[in-house]
Amino acid sequence: MTAHPRPIADAVPDGAPAEFAEAMSALASGVVLVTSRLGDRPWGTTVTAFASVSADPPTVLVSLDSEGTSARAIAAAGSFGVSILAADQRALARYASAPGATKFLESFAEAGEEAGTSPVVAGALAHLECKVVGAVQVADHTVFFGRVSAARASSDGAPLLYHRRAYRTLGGPARAHPPTGRSLRCLTS
Ligand SMILES: Cc1cc2nc3c(=O)[nH]c(=O)nc-3n(C[C@H](O)[C@H](O)[C@H](O)COP(=O)(O)O)c2cc1C
Repeated sequence: MTAHPRPIADAVPDGAPAEFAEAMSALASGVVLVTSRLGDRPWGTTVTAFASVSADPPTVLVSLDSEGTSARAIAAAGSFGVSILAADQRALARYASAPGATKFLESFAEAGEEAGTSPVVAGALAHLECKVVGAVQVADHTVFFGRVSAARASSDGAPLLYHRRAYRTLGGPARAHPPTGRSLRCLTS
């Protein structure tokens, strides 16, 4: 007999969200800013639901509140950026996660970006440029799958982490070396 998977939305019984949140708080995550544009202005949202899906072709996923500004902008544009935050960027992470607040990034984005690319957060450890190749609605979130068209590892400094509902670091120096300023490297033709 074929086993049918249960609908994802029904997999957690009533009353379990608090226990689910408590359990998930045990997972230490890196922190990224998912970047997009509202009109021609840079916008970013703090996210931990981000993962690498495949190395060849390079593909990532990000899960965003379907009603959020970022999800709407990314669905409309068909592209997004991912800046992996450094240990000394927790103020930016707070700014870009404030509920209901604007999250324009002019003060935090690198100057001189190419037209048509996503905003790049200055001082981040790495940045990915992604084209949406799939989107799946699950509960109140949309999981966007992004084909990575360009990647840049700017710095080997320490990452910003999130664990037990607080920002943390590895305990090492916040930034071992200054950013190299290398340009985005194209991964697809
Ligand atoms: C540490 C941290 C991680 C977060 N991760 C996510 C996430 O993975 N997906 C998401 O939709 N919201 C996440 N949020 C919440 C968003 O940052 C927040 O709801 C933001 O206001 C949404 O902005 P938007 O209007 O640009 O979508 C996170 C917040 C914090 C503080």
